[in-house]
Amino acid sequence: MDNQALSLNNTIVATNANVLSMLSERGKNIFFPKLGILAQAAQARGKAINATIGEAVEDDGSSMHLPEFDALVNMPTANIFPYAPSFGKPEFRSLWKDSIYRKNPSLKETVISNPIATNGLTHGLSMAAYLFANEDDTVLLSNHYWENYNLIFENNYGATVETFELFANGGFNVADFGKKLNEIEGEKIITLLNFPNNPAGYTPLVSEIATIVAEIKKVADKGKKVIVLIDDAYFGLVYEENVFTESIFVELANLSENVLAVKLDGPTKEDYVWGFRVGFITYAIKGGTAELYEALENKTAGAVRGNISNISQLSQSMLFKVYSAPTYEQSKKEKFDILKGRYDILRDALSNPKYAEYFSPLPFNSGYFMCVEPKKGLVAEEIRKHLLEKYSTGVIVLGSVIRLAFSAVPQAKLPELVENIYNACVDLDK
Ligand SMILES: Cc1ncc(COP(=O)(O)O)c(C=O)c1O
Repeated sequence: MDNQALSLNNTIVATNANVLSMLSERGKNIFFPKLGILAQAAQARGKAINATIGEAVEDDGSSMHLPEFDALVNMPTANIFPYAPSFGKPEFRSLWKDSIYRKNPSLKETVISNPIATNGLTHGLSMAAYLFANEDDTVLLSNHYWENYNLIFENNYGATVETFELFANGGFNVADFGKKLNEIEGEKIITLLNFPNNPAGYTPLVSEIATIVAEIKKVADKGKKVIVLIDDAYFGLVYEENVFTESIFVELANLSENVLAVKLDGPTKEDYVWGFRVGFITYAIKGGTAELYEALENKTAGAVRGNISNISQLSQSMLFKVYSAPTYEQSKKEKFDILKGRYDILRDALSNPKYAEYFSPLPFNSGYFMCVEPKKGLVAEEIRKHLLEKYSTGVIVLGSVIRLAFSAVPQAKLPELVENIYNACVDLDK
């Protein structure tokens, strides 16, 4: 093992040895190089002649670039063309950290790590898997889950995805979550919680959150080392009262010295910049110190560097500028209101009693999506194909349910979408 990795591991152990045992073998070995090219380039910064940088520089010291770009982006060249640090742009990381506290007021003074920038949440999840999942580790998810988790955890890292039933009696199935947590063998547990959920569009009620957290606490109190990956991709899009509007991160950040909360979040869905590819990983554990977090940040940035080097300078700069704009909150609220309007109309349309004969919605209250479950033995995939052919309507089938992305359908077309599903069911029931 490289001495730089050893030194980070020793720092982690000095605060909480449990965290070292949570890391995968890759996670134990990785480090962000402080020596070598990066260190030498840092020492040369500001010198009269600097022949260290792996970029091209104009004679006046600015970033070399093609002039065609000048008319496209109105920002200093230093915010467009150079590589960003593997950790993310410092001012942007600090702004995002402040925003985590602002959006999650229950965090209060809890010490959390500095966020590390990732190439969207997908890459954040992949880096979390790199750092924590060994071959044959189990990752426990709800049975309604984003299918890319299979590629990330199983295909990339050889872990195994297991599921618990998300719903019982119209709400979160705490009993099955607890049961499946307990069934995981070995001293380490990795679980992933995604609220608002893709595909179900469910976020636990305020009253359910404590029961979910209690199940995690129970296994941690038995001495298990629990890594909770929190996929907050759709954070903030909650449309009903009594639903938990903060991230479950706030409840896990200070829960136990055996529970590491790993928050994956970012602008891609929240701020409608899917193609910008910017996300973050942030850590918290009871008793976590600045030194412990710095070691985890170094390991994460090392994994990013060895994977994709760093995240788009331009995307980070644009987001930083937009987040600092005085109109940002208002603009964001206007987009939220559009999605909430679609949610309300869809819920209203679905309440027509005639639909209950053919399909029923799974519980939903948030996010971009919701699901309906066909009845009378109708097969979701057949409904989907029939919708395409006869009703010019596209939906996604996941196993036995049909997912509707109401985020992507104009309000005026939502009643027709539901009516088309109904008519397709009537056709197929003949
Ligand atoms: C639950 C969930 N997590 C993460 C992602 C990936 O987000 P990103 O575009 O930031 O990689 C998605 C995208 O569909 C998602 O549905």
